Amino acid sequence: MEKIITESKQGTSLALTPKLENTKKLFIESYGCQMNFSDSEIVASILQKEGFNTTSILEDADLVLVNTCSIRDKAEQTVRKRLEKYNAVKRINPKMKVGVLGCMAERLKSKFLEEEKIVDLVVGPDAYKDLPNLVAEVEDGHRAVNVILSKEETYGDIAPVRINSNGVTAFVSITRGCDNMCTFCVVPFTRGRERSRNPQSILFEINDLHKKGYKEVTLLGQNVDSYLWYGGGLKKDFRKASEIQKATATDFAKLLDLCASAHPKMRFRFSTSNPQDMSISVIKTMAKHENICNYIHLPVQSGSNRILKAMNRQHTREDYFELIDNIKKHLPDCSISHDLICGFPTETEQDHQDTLSLMQYVKYSFGYMFSYSERPGTLAARKLEDDIPEAIKKIRLQEVVALQQEHSLERSQGFLGQVTEVLIEKTSKKSDKEWAGRNPQNSTVVFPKEQYEVGDFVMVKIDNCTSATLKGIALGYSKNN
Ligand code: SAH
Ligand code: F3S
Repeated sequence: MEKIITESKQGTSLALTPKLENTKKLFIESYGCQMNFSDSEIVASILQKEGFNTTSILEDADLVLVNTCSIRDKAEQTVRKRLEKYNAVKRINPKMKVGVLGCMAERLKSKFLEEEKIVDLVVGPDAYKDLPNLVAEVEDGHRAVNVILSKEETYGDIAPVRINSNGVTAFVSITRGCDNMCTFCVVPFTRGRERSRNPQSILFEINDLHKKGYKEVTLLGQNVDSYLWYGGGLKKDFRKASEIQKATATDFAKLLDLCASAHPKMRFRFSTSNPQDMSISVIKTMAKHENICNYIHLPVQSGSNRILKAMNRQHTREDYFELIDNIKKHLPDCSISHDLICGFPTETEQDHQDTLSLMQYVKYSFGYMFSYSERPGTLAARKLEDDIPEAIKKIRLQEVVALQQEHSLERSQGFLGQVTEVLIEKTSKKSDKEWAGRNPQNSTVVFPKEQYEVGDFVMVKIDNCTSATLKGIALGYSKNN
């Protein structure tokens, strides 16, 4: 398995409350990042107005949509396999139409129609508002493509339909795209330029979630710390903005402050942070508000300055340590997690040792670790040979995973004997007599159900753990309940 400690990255099909007058059936499944899962909720909302109810049964579908990921070759292979499965179903149900959404759609564009005969529809991440027209074309027997990327926040005005939701935690998008151009990464090509969403529409969506009883919101973006709203448009145009626009601009620290102040009883998380963009004011805002969870996902990619430079990361190992020291100073109990790539072109054994020593310094609570996968069109693919043998990539990956597991276990053991606040999300996978939820530091906590319910904030005393899970007994409701 490539991704070692991870939330569900499996394809997940969606089902939402049906509209009785709707007669057509949509099967939609998502792969990859949280943004894809969140976008699929927007797509389901758009198509619900076009007469589609979702179904979780593939064989029943009139329209099958797969929201795809291009981040590594393996992610694309998974989608190709799913297309084979759809093909088999289409033989029994020839009227079924198949569409590809997301990053693979954007990367391959109309080539998809040539390569995969089964595909009727190709729609990139910024073109979902055009789905009613595109689906109508497909229903008329044509094949349709729209992969135009936008310079504006595209879906700020659409209320996503929360699907298969636990009714407790939700994602809210705040930025789209990424301008960072890490040399290994396909995202700037598939998701386009970085744009921020109007804070009013973000707050409106959060108010609505609050009214519906949601207790926790994760603000979502490829690079949340570079959030900047001064009236819309690309961030680079900020230079041209008026003095009034600049004076009233909202950056990420301000946005966090607005959200946390508006809903003191809701928890707030955010993902993903970029070391070069994370400011001290964000850290101080986290320290100011108890309801902003002390957890930061802070991808580093490598511990070697030479490799960081080749990756076009805008930070050095030393800058990263300075940031970590600041986080630890202002937020002593904050959990930090990382993304790491093993076997980037030209990586030497010494570079790899630098990565291990960086991990020793930070002692991350969690980690997402990958073997380098060359992505067509990226700067690394054009300029650098993928020269590290797969066997070496694998050994290095195993080494970082083993070290991470040690650190995760140490981190879990640090909670033994402590009382931690848990928001109950669901029944534990291992036992239907136990609840599972997360504490502010994003550790999963499992404990006996007793009288508590999903959505309760409960104080739990930890008495046992593994590297991934804390176990304990509830002592009572939290004051935030
Ligand atoms: N900023 C984004 C990053 C998306 S990609 C976010 O919201 O999380 C997630 C991670 O995948 C990256 O941090 C990187 O560690 C990994 N990754 C990206 N491109 C890769 C590649 N070509 N090969 C291996 N891993 C890659
Ligand atoms: Fe990719 Fe780097 Fe942006 S990893 S998503 S280009 S910050």
